[in-house]
Amino acid sequence: MQVWAMLRFTPPEAFVPFAEAAKEEPPLGQSTFLQLRQFIYQLSGVWIADNRQYFLKARLARRLRALGLQRFEEYLRYVTGTDAAALREQQEMLNAIVVLESAFFRTPEHFEAIARTIVPELQRSGLPLRLWSAGCAAGEEPYSLAMVLHRYGMLSEQLELWGTDVSTDAITQAQRGRYPAATVRIPAEYEPYVVRYGPELEVIPELRQRVRFGVLNLVNTDAVHQMAPMGVILCRNVLLYFAPDVRRRVVQSLVDALVPGGYLFVGGTETLTGMDARLQLVHFPGALAYRRSEAGL
Ligand SMILES: C[S@@+](CC[C@H](N)C(=O)[O-])C[C@H]1O[C@@H](n2cnc3c(N)ncnc32)[C@H](O)[C@@H]1O
Repeated sequence: MQVWAMLRFTPPEAFVPFAEAAKEEPPLGQSTFLQLRQFIYQLSGVWIADNRQYFLKARLARRLRALGLQRFEEYLRYVTGTDAAALREQQEMLNAIVVLESAFFRTPEHFEAIARTIVPELQRSGLPLRLWSAGCAAGEEPYSLAMVLHRYGMLSEQLELWGTDVSTDAITQAQRGRYPAATVRIPAEYEPYVVRYGPELEVIPELRQRVRFGVLNLVNTDAVHQMAPMGVILCRNVLLYFAPDVRRRVVQSLVDALVPGGYLFVGGTETLTGMDARLQLVHFPGALAYRRSEAGL
């Protein structure tokens, strides 16, 4: 019996395009892989480990098809050029290789800590009510934050919410604020913040217009500094894709962009220990964050 025949809900046709596409993919030689990896690292800080060579090949094979190119060597020449077409392709390449995996209410304790403790604290201390989701994917994170802040009565007119990402595709989707209803999980108490449109859920306009989205590459230190002064920065599940030297540099520029007394949140599996002497670990119920020391050191 064929494997597909044992999978009750998956029609055999579903396997065919993938299998054929895989067969048609041109080979990615080691030297071309190393050069593409280095170029991606220079552009975005993202580091493709040796064991993710197949991932890179599969993602970039789509770009070869879109451009009508037959070989990865041709693609490397094309994308590393200096003309307008090469610059456009550099963005498309980044769009193709970033991992946009996100979810509404991912680590909800972070949003609770921000809405219940941090925003009131920023308000009391007269610190900027400016909150930034850096590496926001398609907007799930800043919209979750907007929903929680609104529910706790903390989404005042003075509060600014920013969402940025290196992927232009992600930012376009974030601005649209529509997500496939089949995959999105919204807790019952937050359902009033979305409206169903056929197979999609749309964040209500009142919240959509509160988040300012933009394309920003976190390895661009000047661009990060221009976001200052921030009261809260979420850079969750982003740093893990960077090479270690880039990770440190990005963290330091994010801390520069934080106001003394402001907070930085990273993903549950990420740690900033030893990365920047200005950061102090702070515990919230079920959550950890880093606070920039008042002195600014
Ligand atoms: C796994 S998602 C995390 C999304 C969200 N922060 C969360 O925790 O659910 C990683 C995001 O980092 C973004 N990213 C990767 N490299 C970046 C860079 N150099 N500058 C800005 N964003 C970047 C990717 O485009 C992607 O949206």
